Amino acid sequence: MALSDATRLRILFATPELAPWVKTGGLGDVSAALPAALAEAGLEVRVLVPGYPALLAAFAQRRALVQVERPGGQLLPAAISQVALRPGLELLLLECPACYERHGGPYQDRTGRDWADNVLRFGLLSKVAALLASRDTPLDWRPHVLHCNDWQTALAPAYLRYRHPAAAASVTTIHNLAFQGLFPATRLEALDLPASAMAIDGVEFHGRISFLKAGLQHGDRLTTVSPTYAREICEPEHGFGLDGLLRYRRDRRGGDLVGILNGIDTREWDPATDRSIAAPYNSRSLALKQLNRAALGERLGLDLAADTPLLGMISRITLQKGADLVIEAAPTLVARGARLAVLGSGDATMEAAWRELAAAHPGRIAVRIGFDEPLAHLIEAGADLFLMPSRFEPCGLNQMYSLAYGTPPVVRATGGLADTVVDCTPRSLADGSANGFSFAPATTEALLAAVERALDAWRDVETWRRIQRNGMARDWGWGQAARQYADLYRSCLPAAR
Ligand code: ADP
Ligand code: GLC
Repeated sequence: MALSDATRLRILFATPELAPWVKTGGLGDVSAALPAALAEAGLEVRVLVPGYPALLAAFAQRRALVQVERPGGQLLPAAISQVALRPGLELLLLECPACYERHGGPYQDRTGRDWADNVLRFGLLSKVAALLASRDTPLDWRPHVLHCNDWQTALAPAYLRYRHPAAAASVTTIHNLAFQGLFPATRLEALDLPASAMAIDGVEFHGRISFLKAGLQHGDRLTTVSPTYAREICEPEHGFGLDGLLRYRRDRRGGDLVGILNGIDTREWDPATDRSIAAPYNSRSLALKQLNRAALGERLGLDLAADTPLLGMISRITLQKGADLVIEAAPTLVARGARLAVLGSGDATMEAAWRELAAAHPGRIAVRIGFDEPLAHLIEAGADLFLMPSRFEPCGLNQMYSLAYGTPPVVRATGGLADTVVDCTPRSLADGSANGFSFAPATTEALLAAVERALDAWRDVETWRRIQRNGMARDWGWGQAARQYADLYRSCLPAAR
């Protein structure tokens, strides 16, 4: 497909999550905001997502488009319906009641167990994504580029390779290399892939089928969500066994692997217009932030005095996010006069540890286990400092929300955290770039030392205002990333190769 610069790029964006309806983390946010930013930049985008109950309920007016009667193997028949969201942006819902219409999460049941048929549920999503990107598509619309996101859609480039060779170019984006979609080799036929795909240059990974590896092997271009994470995953420490393949792709031709930093949805996350917070504010009215602090303290039952710093944390409670480091540091932080507001869910043992800490320190540590979007906004607005000591972080959105809300983050310098947070030093303060605090070793001591530095700065109102304003001054929106993705899509078209 030759393409001049003037041709309007058509993108099929395949994803397993879509905020606000179906979201387990940042991928849901990205899947809502990036396609919108691409459409705003003039591209024509269709987002393919499973027809989960929340989406079917939200879009009762959808238009039935086509049936996919025989997807192949043991994949179930499905239907595709369409919803126009805004100019240049449409949703394609992949409807398969037996696969997607159930109570529970997109990947797990209510008890936290993976759905036993995930291999077929996301095999179907990947297969249909590839079909729609190919000459065999039942639609009268064909994309120039199929953009896959995480393992749940990453088998699509393998289907393009083995089943639909005359098709669009493909991009595989890694939002988190830790989740790979590994399944027994015996499922190959059920997925409608040929035996030849079970090879080292196919979908095979240590004797199993790896959806993510398939996308990394067969995608025309690979991206991840920050430049630093793009470098880190090429090393064994963060490569989850895929670093060799990633190095190979990085070094091929002009380089097939790039890091494009995520943005944030500034319509949802702007302290000046946020309806979930007690008092909207901007960088010139930071004194109003106090009202949000007071509202947060009241809502969570925290004893707050003017000189007690309030530290916020919102995240999956997992080792990735360094939840254990904060749990260990919490008693010391409280002993030094701080208050903690924690919102999250995840690992059952660490959830229990948080509950115990809250019970042992009433009025000082408040913990809410669960997913609570409005409370997340109030914590971002009301906390003085935000904690995000991740062991690894492909991009991270919460630290960007914090920066935009004048709530300087304390982070481990890794992945997207290293690309967004500028540690406060005499030099970075002087050149106007300091916007938070970072540390390197994944230890409680290093975290405590960084918080200590942050609290020293917090006690000096003038310094603190400068740090807050530095973070708020940067445009954290999606505009720049959308331009980078558009350039990337053009670079992987046959004419450009
Ligand atoms: P990840 O995707 O690795 O979990 P990100 O920082 O990219 O991390 O994105 C997390 C997203 O999920 C953010 O939008 C954050 O506000 C949200 N989030 C995480 N946990 C909760 C929670 N318990 N309640 C509300 N929102 C949450
Ligand atoms: C993943 C990563 C997170 C990233 C998000 C969106 O969930 O863990 O760092 O921000 O995807 O790309």
